[in-house]
Amino acid sequence: MTKRGINTLKAAAKDQLLAAGRASRKAGLERKFDRMIPKEAERRTASTAFDFGTLDEVRELKIQRAAADLLKIDSPFFRSHDVRAAAHTIIDGREYINFSSYDYCGLNGDPRVNAAAHEAIEQFGTSVSASRVVSGERPLHRELETALARFLGVEDSVVMVSGHATNVTTIGHLLSKSDLVLTDAFIHNSIVEGVRLSGATRLTFRHNDLDHLEELLAKSRHSFGRVLIAVEGLYSMDGDSPPLARLIRLKNRYDAWLLVDEAHALGVVGATGRGLAERDGVDPNAVEIWMGTLSKTLSSCGGFIAGSSSLVEYLKATAPGFVFSVGMPAAQTAAALKSLQLLEAEPERVTQLAKNGHYFLKKAREAGLDVGTSEGLAVIPIIVGDSILAAVVSHRLAEAGINVQPIIYPAVPEKAARLRYFLTSNHTVEDIDKAVAATAECLARTRKEGEGLKLLSDSLSR
Ligand SMILES: Cc1ncc(COP(=O)(O)O)c(C=O)c1O
Repeated sequence: MTKRGINTLKAAAKDQLLAAGRASRKAGLERKFDRMIPKEAERRTASTAFDFGTLDEVRELKIQRAAADLLKIDSPFFRSHDVRAAAHTIIDGREYINFSSYDYCGLNGDPRVNAAAHEAIEQFGTSVSASRVVSGERPLHRELETALARFLGVEDSVVMVSGHATNVTTIGHLLSKSDLVLTDAFIHNSIVEGVRLSGATRLTFRHNDLDHLEELLAKSRHSFGRVLIAVEGLYSMDGDSPPLARLIRLKNRYDAWLLVDEAHALGVVGATGRGLAERDGVDPNAVEIWMGTLSKTLSSCGGFIAGSSSLVEYLKATAPGFVFSVGMPAAQTAAALKSLQLLEAEPERVTQLAKNGHYFLKKAREAGLDVGTSEGLAVIPIIVGDSILAAVVSHRLAEAGINVQPIIYPAVPEKAARLRYFLTSNHTVEDIDKAVAATAECLARTRKEGEGLKLLSDSLSR
């Protein structure tokens, strides 16, 4: 059928026809890849150890890589940077404006943070060697935990060696089979894994849809023992956040606990970076569990749980990921502590970050780009709706000196495939102007050449 012919069809029939075309193109591509990358049975070798390259899951990865190679796209993953994670970077000797770091307040590599880490190494070495419970702690551990609790306005906190493991062990430990966890549809993997470990039932409510959450609570609360609601202070895919006061009313009404993961909110949300409670003017002690990471704004590594003294005391005595795992290295503890002190002493970093985010959002909207529901703080997606298109545009932007990651299916649904920009307080107006203009131009040009799947099938038939 000619293009004109298609245009005379009713919308539904047109959609059906386009979907059929897309499916047959996809099937054609799959047949071609089957020939290029042999399946498990054909790849068996005489080697004594099992060859993981023969697993279907690994084959899937190889197919993705082969598709990228055909499009001459360098992998956007595992890029080796010559300098620290920050607003600007150097990759293979070439300078880039970097939108792929979580150095939100520009503290990574600050000479005062580096000096604190150096000093801690001199005094305590590079490892604390074992669990704090059995092997003892260093004064820095408690100093950081006390400072975090004070900064957030709660009684106490405990730090652990990984942000991801902090969620896994805390949720895995506090809940069990007879319990229920209600998670936002866009919740981070560490929370999902924690629920899996606990054996609790998990129900998902639509992203930031508290009516849906309430519906699920009303329907299911009575069938379970403990109930936990888990949300993020700033969602890392969409850059938006839930209304805290309503969440608190809901969890009180249904006798549930609330966990707020502030990984991307600390240093970002609220006038001085104290997160969702500060932004919404809510008493932080009304929330049972505050979680955060030390790896982003606090330019270190590790995670924390903050809340009541009883919660912290219990986790320190019994949570497997704390009791049976090494304590934070002194240098990383000192780096996080100094970063926190600087964040508190220099709140203009938070103000500047918000200014940059709002400016980026405004410019992107003016350029006709789809920024979804982003609130214009540190996280701004540009939704392009096609994984291959996102990968091609990211590659072309890298050629133009802009480092931004594509987020593709299955990390997000195909129609939500995007480029994701992480802003820092150190990006300049020029950086933002250049990035937005280049993205708009590159996206329009690539779209003109054909949607992602067509680009790929054209490359295959060449
Ligand atoms: C919402 C959220 N929670 C937890 C984590 C895990 O933190 P970390 O990377 O410090 O282990 C991340 C990491 O990006 C995150 O985005």
